[in-house]
Order: sequence, then C-alpha cells, then structure tokens
Amino acid sequence: MEHHAAFDYIRDLLTLPEVVETRHHMHHSIPKHDHLTRSVRMSYHLSRLLRADIRTCVRAALLHDINSRAGTLTTHGRVAARWAAAQGEDPAVCAAIESHMYPLGPAPASREAWVLVLADKAASLGDIKQFLTGLIDGRSLEERRRLKETDPYYRQRPRRRLFRHWRAKRAP
Ligand SMILES: [Fe+2]
Ligand SMILES: [Fe+2]
Repeated sequence: MEHHAAFDYIRDLLTLPEVVETRHHMHHSIPKHDHLTRSVRMSYHLSRLLRADIRTCVRAALLHDINSRAGTLTTHGRVAARWAAAQGEDPAVCAAIESHMYPLGPAPASREAWVLVLADKAASLGDIKQFLTGLIDGRSLEERRRLKETDPYYRQRPRRRLFRHWRAKRAP
C-alpha cells in the first residue's frame, strides 16, 4: 500500500483480522479493502477541507463497511458502528459510521459524519473507475472471479443459479 499521511492515524486498525480479510471480500466488484482505503484517503482530504477532526474521519472511513453483509443497505452502518464500538472506538467514530449511507438510514449529526457520507460516495465512484479501467486488460474480471471464490458470501451461494432448473431436468 502506498504511503499516505492518513495511514498514520489507522496503523493499529490495519492489522485487525476483520480489516485484513476484506482483501478477500467483494465490494463494487473490487476488493472491499480497496474501497475502504480509498474512503480513508477521501476522508483525509475532505476532513481538512471541511475542518473536521482528521483522526475521527479516517478511522470511521476504514471501518465503515466491516461486516456489511450482516445488514441491509440501510442497516449495515449500524452493524459496523456496533462492531467499532465493541473494538473500543470513540463514540464520534461510531456515530459517523452509523449514518454513512445517508440519505438511506439515519442522517449525519456531525461534521465528521458528513465527511464520511461524502467520502464514501466519492470512493464508490473511484471503485467503479478502478473496475472499468481493469476491464481493458482483463484484470478486473480475473479479480472478480478470485473474490467470488474467497468471499464467504459468494461461497455459500450455489453457483450457476440461472442454470439450476435446466441442469436438474437434464440430470439422469
Ligand atoms: Fe456502506
Ligand atoms: Fe462504503
């Protein structure tokens, strides 16, 4: 990972197993870890721009989608916020995480929470750009195949769902 000033605030979090394993989880068709670290960089810049607390913003950014599959589009912020609280994160970090999906779910109630809302949306656009760029040389599709093998969410789902019915009929 390239050096970025934002990473000085999250050194201790980067080695947590729940953060490390996101390298093998899929999010926007790319590794979730890429989305999280992109959110960190965006949060770092936005926090300076909006004069929000840098440390709160970048820590919330790194953790905002942890265990997101345990929730829905509107509730996964709360799932990640509870997990962060259990890790001993500041209430300000947890509050920012909880409202990151705004306008889906609760509204942001602090400057830092607003930073994460904006950083997450901007990072998501960056994720799409990363995927599209990688389509040209085939990297994206190869990575997506790898992620489908390693992401427990996809491992648990039956493969070739579309052809299940057809295959069942043809089975001897
Ligand atoms: Fe999210
Ligand atoms: Fe996100």
